[in-house]
Parts: sequence; C-alpha cells; structure tokens
Amino acid sequence: RSYRDDFAVADLGLASAGRRAILLAEHEMPGLMALRTEMGPRQPLAGVRITGFLHLTVQTAVLVETLIALGAQVRWAGSHQDSAQDDAAAALAAGPHRVPVFGWKGQSRRELWSSAGSALAWPDGRGPDLLLDDGAGMTLLLHHGVAREKGEDPSPYGVGLPAEALALIDEFREKDPAFWSRTAAAVRGVSEETTTGAHYLHQLADAGALLFPAISVNDSVTKSKFDNRYGCRHSLIDGLNRATDALIGGKLAIVCGYGDVGKGCADALRAQGARVVVTEIDPICALQAAMDGYQVSVLDRFLEEANIVVTTTGGPGVVTAAHLARMRHQAIVGNMGHFDAEIDVTGLEQAGIATRVPVKPQVDEWVFPDGHSVIVLSEGRLLNLGNATGHPSFVMSTSFSNQVLAQIELNSRDRPIGVSTLPKLLDERVARLHLAHLGAELTTLTQEQSRRQGIPVAGPYKPDHYRY
Ligand code: NAI
Repeated sequence: RSYRDDFAVADLGLASAGRRAILLAEHEMPGLMALRTEMGPRQPLAGVRITGFLHLTVQTAVLVETLIALGAQVRWAGSHQDSAQDDAAAALAAGPHRVPVFGWKGQSRRELWSSAGSALAWPDGRGPDLLLDDGAGMTLLLHHGVAREKGEDPSPYGVGLPAEALALIDEFREKDPAFWSRTAAAVRGVSEETTTGAHYLHQLADAGALLFPAISVNDSVTKSKFDNRYGCRHSLIDGLNRATDALIGGKLAIVCGYGDVGKGCADALRAQGARVVVTEIDPICALQAAMDGYQVSVLDRFLEEANIVVTTTGGPGVVTAAHLARMRHQAIVGNMGHFDAEIDVTGLEQAGIATRVPVKPQVDEWVFPDGHSVIVLSEGRLLNLGNATGHPSFVMSTSFSNQVLAQIELNSRDRPIGVSTLPKLLDERVARLHLAHLGAELTTLTQEQSRRQGIPVAGPYKPDHYRY
C-alpha cells in the first residue's frame, strides 16, 4: 500500500490510469461539470472543510474535484470495504490537489473505520465544517463518539455501530479526550447519500439526538428515483456477470424488496429473460410489483427453485443461514442494500454448517455437507460495488449534483437541526442539467398556460407531495 504524506491508497502507480478514467467520466457527468462552470467563479464553498465518507470510485473522484473547484478543502474515506477503485483513489491522491484519500479495495472492517478516522481527523486538530456521508457512517461515528465521551449509552437511538468503529472511537478518546465533542460541535451539517442513512438520520432526529442539520440527498427525486432505480438496473447485471457469468435468461430470480432499488433490479433481471418473483412486506409496493407483472410471493415458497436471490430491503436477516442451506446447488445470492446483514453470511459461518471455498475475490462458494453449494457475492455486502464498479457515471452525476447543491445549501445559511430535503427547484435544476446529454428537448409553458394552470414557467412544476 502507498502511505505517504497524508493519504492511504493501494498503489500510487495506478494514478495515470485513474486519471484517464476520471476524464472519461467527466464527459458522462454533465451536471457536475455544469456546476463547475456555472459556480466556479463564485467559489460558493471557499475555504469550507469537507470530510467525505462515500465509495471511492471514479465518479466520486469527479465529485471530489467538483467540490474543490468550488473552493472546498476535502478529506475523504471510502464507505465500503470492497467498493474502492484503486486507480481513482490514486489519481485523487497524486492529482493536482493532492487530496487526502483513505481507502482501497479489500479493506478489513478495522481498516475501513480507521480510514474513516483519518478522514475525520484534520491535521491541525480542527475538524470538518461539513460532512458528506453514506449510510450515515460518519454521522453515527460522531454521535457515538460524543455519547461515549459523556458516558452515555447511544443505543436508545436504535442505531448501532460495529465493534471496529467503537474501537476507533476509544482509540481517539485515549489520545484526545474531547476529540468527539469538539469535532461534532464544529460540524455545521451533513448531506446524506442513501436510503439507509436517511432512515438513521430520521431516527436520530425523532429521538431528539441529532447534533447538526442534515440534508437527505437521497430524498431528492433526481437521486432516489434515478440512482437507486436506473443505477441498480445497470449495475446489478454488471455485478452478476462479472462475478459468475452465469446466464440469467430463463432462470428463476427472486428480488426481495420492491422499493426504488428493487424496482430497478427486477426490471433488469426481467429484461435479461429471467422469471422474476418479488417479495415485499409493504402492500403498496407488493401491489405495484403485481401490476408490473411480477409474481409476488414469499421467499419460502420459491427458495428451493430459485437460481438467483437478490436482496434490496436495507433490513437485516432477509435471507437467513437456514434459507441458504435450503437453496438449490450453485444458486447465486447477492445483496444490493446498504448493509451486509440482509444475507446472514455471518450466521452461516458461526453455525459451522457450510465450508467457504473462495472462487475469486468477492465470490465464495459455501459448500454444505451433502455436497451442494450456494454462491455468495461480496460476502453479502453491496454486490454492484463489490463485484463490479457500482453505478455508471451519468446516473451518479444526478446524485452527486444534488450532493454539491446540498453542500452549498448547508454552507450558505445556518439551518435548524433536523432532516430536510433540497427545494424542488434545485431538484428540477439537476434534471435540467442532464437533459441535453440525452438529446431530450423540454417543452416550455406559454404565459397563458402558466397563468391558467398556476404553474410558474420556470418551475417548480409539482407540489412537494407529488410522487413521480
Ligand atoms: P426503499 O425503502 O424504497 O425499498 C426497500 C423496500 O424493501 C421497501 O419497499 C420495503 O417495504 C421492503 N422490505 C423491507 N423489509 C423487507 C423484507 N424483510 N422482505 C421484503 N421486502 C422488505 O429503499 P431503496 O431506496 O430501494 O433502498 C434499499 C436499500 O438499498 C437501502 O439500504 C439503500 O441504502 C440501498 N441502496 C443501494 C444502492 C446500490 O447501489 N446498491 C443504491 C441506492 C440505495
């Protein structure tokens, strides 16, 4: 690994390959590039210190360099053990801005949290002004850190952290007993990337425990209805193919959960010719799946027949060790939700009912005593980021344009503590920035239409409660 100055990446020698990938991505990220052009001269993030905790990918590199182009100083850690693209991380570290980045593909859990700590600890001892977070990882680290410093038990918030993260908190406390309260007090806000993180932020806010204002970028329409859906529609298949290259057409695939991610996954599997069964707990999403033409059923009914099982719920214990044991020979099991607890690989390991046979990185065959096996992708962690390279640039441009606008919003004024979303006009602006790249032409309301419908010519076009 290359540890030098103030970064930790796999291999700095990958920097020029990473730079070429970043240049290609820039072309496919018109939203971010337009924000650089439009806002660069104004420097809306001048001098702002941002700590980021989000997959260290080529697309994230374009985001990081956009924040810097708008004036920010950035420290960054990857938010997933297997999602880092080592060339992109090297390009950031060795690039013109010498960005302090911490992360590499194939980190242990301890290394992941230690990297998070490095991104949070600015060398002058003053913490970040803003956080850009994924799965609320950095936010939870700070909240648990403050609680441990005060001798409080943060578990009433209902949101835990792995032992490795708690160990990091204690390590920092030993060196600097006030690190966590001081750092949290300096944070002026966080913008959150994903559904699971937004859910945690709401839990913290409901418990009256949230320490700083938060913007849920996930809840911008141009994030969750695009990245979660169309991004997964692309990257699920990419992950499955790179992992196993097993033919999908004609197979029976089960998609657990039919939210935004589940909709994209089911759509992609059906487009490959798979027969798709959907499981849901929510009658509205179940009815949507049924009316979209999927068989809606329970896992138990189709488990033995399924060739592919994909979880997209964001919740724990969806596929248990007992389920895994019942599946057919060489069934493929993978997770698209944020947390690795959806498929109970740990339970399988602890129960000692199967032996793990590594096939290649991020692909394991778990062999049962009767000789049959199941293929588990990325140890139950996000398979599209572990087995492939995550979402393509264009869809990440919609997500990350929201991130940039959220960081500017958080910096431009003090907000009350709570969880909010970006105003609809900004959401519409993000969409507008991406139309030309697809050759899409927008119709403009006439003044007369605008007056009679009560809709401004320049938007917003829909009320906040509109569901798209
Ligand atoms: P969502 O809330 O729209 O959908 C989740 C669905 O799962 C809901 O409809 C819920 O009713 C259902 N569900 C919950 N428990 C279930 C169970 N035990 N069995 C069957 N269905 C169940 O959330 P969204 O936006 O679809 O995100 C899902 C997860 O994916 C989150 O953890 C999110 O952070 C993550 N995510 C992953 C991405 C990726 O690149 N792989 C991209 C975006 C989000």
